[in-house]
Amino acid sequence: MRKTALITGASKGIGKELAFIFAENQCDLILTARSGDRLAQLKEQLEDGYGISVYPVVGDLSLPGAAEALFREVKDKGMEVDYLVNNAGFGDYGLFADTPWHRYEEMITLNITSLSHLMHLFIQEWKGRKRGKILNLSSTAAFQPGPMMAVYFATKAFVLSLSEAVGNELRKEGITITALCPGPTSTYFGEVSKMNASQLVKNVKIADARAVAELGFKAMMKGKPAVIQGSMNKLAPFSIRFLPRKWVTRLSAKVMQHQ
Ligand SMILES: NC(=O)c1ccc[n+]([C@@H]2O[C@H](COP(=O)([O-])OP(=O)(O)OC[C@H]3O[C@@H](n4cnc5c(N)ncnc54)[C@H](OP(=O)(O)O)[C@@H]3O)[C@@H](O)[C@H]2O)c1
Repeated sequence: MRKTALITGASKGIGKELAFIFAENQCDLILTARSGDRLAQLKEQLEDGYGISVYPVVGDLSLPGAAEALFREVKDKGMEVDYLVNNAGFGDYGLFADTPWHRYEEMITLNITSLSHLMHLFIQEWKGRKRGKILNLSSTAAFQPGPMMAVYFATKAFVLSLSEAVGNELRKEGITITALCPGPTSTYFGEVSKMNASQLVKNVKIADARAVAELGFKAMMKGKPAVIQGSMNKLAPFSIRFLPRKWVTRLSAKVMQHQ
């Protein structure tokens, strides 16, 4: 029997690439995002191209209660989920005090609350059957504070920490959790988050979304706790372990400053 993957934020970017990879591996899909037109187009493309079934769910996961509503919709349709990919997320470049609070409320609800709630709901169900895999989109932002994107960096640190801790709790339950930590990647993220204005994107190699998605897919299938994309991106979290945190934040502020 074919397995089913639920991917949040599947309408574009890394989530869309992951949808193609699961389809190539003959998985049925539940795809969510706010853009219904993009999801409808993707459904047609994937069903025609790979002979799988795609069930699109249009919804905004930055709203309170959205994760539970999505879980209920999946359950009401009698669908079993084997793989959960918590990919939807966004950032916002700017000073903490100058950014309207509602942006942070949406970001925290999407990047943290909905992700954690979906994990919680599916893990409770999966514990009985002793199988299931989760891929959570963290970031290289998880490894240090990020002045100018302070809340976004903190949300990704949360995702990495939560994934590793809960993955450890579940190590005898047949359920694995993988945190995928990409550096800057060519998607709509740079534009949506306004991160393209920072020195960061000028000074690092921008990764290809397909390559990032492939790395995440493979790591998830192997049940790895965390995976960092790119050799330079791997070096940074390792080397900063030996520096005082104050210096790390200053270095990060330099990288994140406006071009
Ligand atoms: N690109 C990077 O440089 C980078 C680096 C590290 C980590 N990441 C992480 O990778 C993940 C995917 O980002 P991406 O780079 O692929 O960005 P993207 O191209 O902007 O795609 C984001 C996806 O999330 C969906 N989404 C955004 N807000 C949503 C909401 N409120 N409710 C439901 N869905 C929502 C979007 O669909 P709709 O707009 O249709 O809702 C879209 O499908 C994010 O968690 C991001 O933090 C990205």
